[in-house]
This record gives sequence, structure tokens and C-alpha cells, in this order.
Amino acid sequence: MDPDSTLDAARRQIAACPDEASLKQIERDYVGKKGVVAAMLAEIPKLDPDARKAHGQKANALKQAILELVAERQQAFAATKLDAARRADDFDPTLPPPAALRGSLHPITQVTRELEDLFLSMGYEVVDGPEVELDHYNFEALNITKDHPARDSQDTFYCDDVGRLVLRTHTSPVQIRAMERREPPFRVVAPGRVFRQETTDASHDHTFYQMEGLVVGKDISVAHLIGAMKTLLRGIFGRDLDVRLRPGHFPFVEPGFELDARCPFCEAGCSVCKRTTWIELLPCGLVHPNVLRAGGVDPEEWSGFAFGLGLSRLVMLRHGIDDVRHLLDGDLRFLEQF
Ligand code: PHE
Repeated sequence: MDPDSTLDAARRQIAACPDEASLKQIERDYVGKKGVVAAMLAEIPKLDPDARKAHGQKANALKQAILELVAERQQAFAATKLDAARRADDFDPTLPPPAALRGSLHPITQVTRELEDLFLSMGYEVVDGPEVELDHYNFEALNITKDHPARDSQDTFYCDDVGRLVLRTHTSPVQIRAMERREPPFRVVAPGRVFRQETTDASHDHTFYQMEGLVVGKDISVAHLIGAMKTLLRGIFGRDLDVRLRPGHFPFVEPGFELDARCPFCEAGCSVCKRTTWIELLPCGLVHPNVLRAGGVDPEEWSGFAFGLGLSRLVMLRHGIDDVRHLLDGDLRFLEQF
């Protein structure tokens, strides 16, 4: 059959076809595997070599033209359907659209903001430091000597081959940065993300959050430290909790402590406090004179306290989360609960 009259025939059928199913059938008849166009192409090997190219081109042009007609008709059907739906009695254009999905603040962000407000109300400044940190700030200036075990590559992610740049392993480097830019007396807190090269498990992740605190002033003592920590506890748990200090060792504080608080969840022992009625809250201490000096502060004239609150742990305590890795894995089923 010659291509022109074939196209005319197809055009008439497509225009006259009543629905999508019959349109599909017409499409198959013409351009399907066993359709008219396929038959034309199958004839090619039987033709005179000189005529083959022109014949092939015609067949392909025919196919193209038919496909376009089908697509056009298809669109017309779709438009008619939509039109009908709009006119149907149950179409109510005044109905509100489906609710948009709304996000919420991450629980870490929530505690961070609450604690920032609390410390701001106590006259602290909120400061920031880099996550990629110089070895000098992360270790050296904090009185962590070259051979200290905390430097072991087990714990530290190094960012270069010469050991000059690290991912900060704690927020304490911000202590030095804060001292360098201020004249005492001052109080700062520095919330942020820290990194350790550790095997992850339910209570360890390679990335977690801390909030550093540093207060420098005249005659700052352990009594000031305890006072501040009790206020912090009241802010977090909404009531007064007894605290106790145990000795703790960190090269940048002297003396150094682990501060425990009475378990806020029980009186006689529970799973959170492991039946001891005490929970380990944070490490802290009086700033070591070498550290003050490294920050350009005269230890003969000034003293200070510092603490390192584990924000990830605090969020876990607060919400009864049993695996620290939930905090970072971005699973909406977890996040939507906050
Ligand atoms: N930087 C210490 C750590 O992450 C915690 C700390 C901060 C201890 C401040 C004492 C004073 O392990």
C-alpha cells in the first residue's frame, strides 16, 4: 500500500475512534510489531537495491506521522476526561489541599537552643569554633602533650599527612580560641559537633555533640563550678538535683572532676542510673594554668572553670533513646517523633 493513502486511512480511523482502548488497537495495527509499517520494512530486502533507501525513509516517516496523530488524540482524550471530572457533582474546588509535610527541629537542635537560652540568661556568650581544627588548639594548647594517649590515631581523624589538621575530638579547643579574643572576666558556651574515630555501637558514634563551657574571672573556684552546674540541672530537668564530684583526669583541668547528679528518673534505682541512683552528667574542672597561659590569660591574676556537656547523651537521657546512632541516621520514623 502506498504510504500517502495509508496515512490518510490512519488519520480517518484515529479521528473516528471512540475511546483510548480502540486508539491503542489502531496504534498496534499500524506501528506495532506486526503492523503495516513493520510489513513495509520487511519488504526492503526484496526490493531493487536503488529503491531500498527511499522505501525505508518513507516507512519511517509514516510511522512518525502516525505516532504523532496517536499522541494528539491521546491528549484530547485526557483533556476530555479531566473536563468530565471537573464537571462531576462530587468535584469540590473549595476543599483544602492535602496537608503539606512539615519538618521539625532535630532533638539535638532543640536542647542546644534551650541550653543556649539558659546560659545567655546567666550572662554567658554563645561562641563557635571550626570543626576542622589545628592540632595546636585541639591538643597542644590544652596541655595535651605529644605522647598523650588521647592523640592516638585510634581516636583522632587526621585531615592531612603531617598531623597539623584534625577533626576536633571535643569542643575544648574553643576554650583557647575564646580566651585569645577576650579580656577576662568572661563566660562562654560553645555547642558543636565533634568527631572520634571509634567503632560505633549503641553508645558510641563517630560524630556527636558537646557543649563546652568556660568561665574566667577573679578567684573562680570549685564552688562557682558546682553552683553553675546546679543551675544547669535545674534548667534541664526542671528541679533541683543533688550533685557529687568524683576525681576525673583531663590534662587541661586541675583539679578535674566527673560530676554526677541524682538520677532524675527514680528514687531507688532504675535502668537509666543502673540502680546506683546517680547519673554521670559531665566532666569538668578548674582550668589548668598552662591552658590559661596558652590562651593569653595570666594564671597569677585569673582563674576559671570549664565543663564539657555531652549533648548527644543528654538528648538520649531526656527522650529515653537507647541507641546514639539514631540521632544521625536521618530516619524519618525516628525524627517525626520530636
Ligand atoms: N573535652 C573533654 C572531652 O570531650 C571534656 C571536658 C571539657 C573535660 C571541659 C573537662 C573540662 O572528653
